[in-house]
Amino acid sequence: MARRRPIMAANWKMNKLVGEAREYVEQLLPRIEGAGGADIAVFVPFTALGEVARLTEGTPVVAGAQNFYYEDSGAFTGEVSAPMLLDVGAAAVIVGHSERREIFGETDEMVARKAARVVSAGLLPVVCVGETKEERDSGGMWEKVSRQVRAVFEYLGDETSGEPIVFAYEPVWAIGTGDTATPEDAQDATSKIRGLLGELRGEDFAGAVRILYGGSVKPGNVGEIMAQEDVDGGLVGGASLEAESFAELVNAAANVESG
Ligand code: 13P
Repeated sequence: MARRRPIMAANWKMNKLVGEAREYVEQLLPRIEGAGGADIAVFVPFTALGEVARLTEGTPVVAGAQNFYYEDSGAFTGEVSAPMLLDVGAAAVIVGHSERREIFGETDEMVARKAARVVSAGLLPVVCVGETKEERDSGGMWEKVSRQVRAVFEYLGDETSGEPIVFAYEPVWAIGTGDTATPEDAQDATSKIRGLLGELRGEDFAGAVRILYGGSVKPGNVGEIMAQEDVDGGLVGGASLEAESFAELVNAAANVESG
């Protein structure tokens, strides 16, 4: 089967001032000139989003937000809407990152409403799912992940095709810990997610959806993770903060062998 087009995505989390963001983009662009084989996204704090979108316009790099709220305007102090993201040039949004779910109390329902709004706004959602260490150790990985994936489809229109949505399997125990899932674990979870997408929306949909792995991805392990049949890219925190190391990951994703 033809391989889906890989994506390498940086999630800066709550890091970088505008000046640092500018410097990063300047360092990144010349290092990824040969990376035409992959889509590249950089998910940055709201404060740097307009600047990063402006600096990456006309380049292979897409600027994205790490969160937003699904209402378009109104009395929602502190929130940012999909039209506001479009207004500053964002093209993608992370939805339901485990840090949003765990620290800020986002529920499956909120994640589902957000995913639907992102798609209807014409932005690309990267929907994160993943289990905790306790859930994995007690054999509950698939129960958790399948529930999270099913929930996303609650508000998503039937007409949504496979390409406008990306999933990221990010086991919580592998995030920021240096404790990467084995390539086999990553393949096991991503293939199960694809199987479930097939049940929910049919094989064409499932075959087109790109599923990323996230959790301590770095230049030293990206090759074996990307080599897995159902892993279509990476969502990277720590190793994306330096332009040089993120460029290595991008180039690895762009050069992945067809599987
Ligand atoms: P790390 O790459 O730092 O483990 O973070 C992964 C992540 O949460 C990406 O969204």
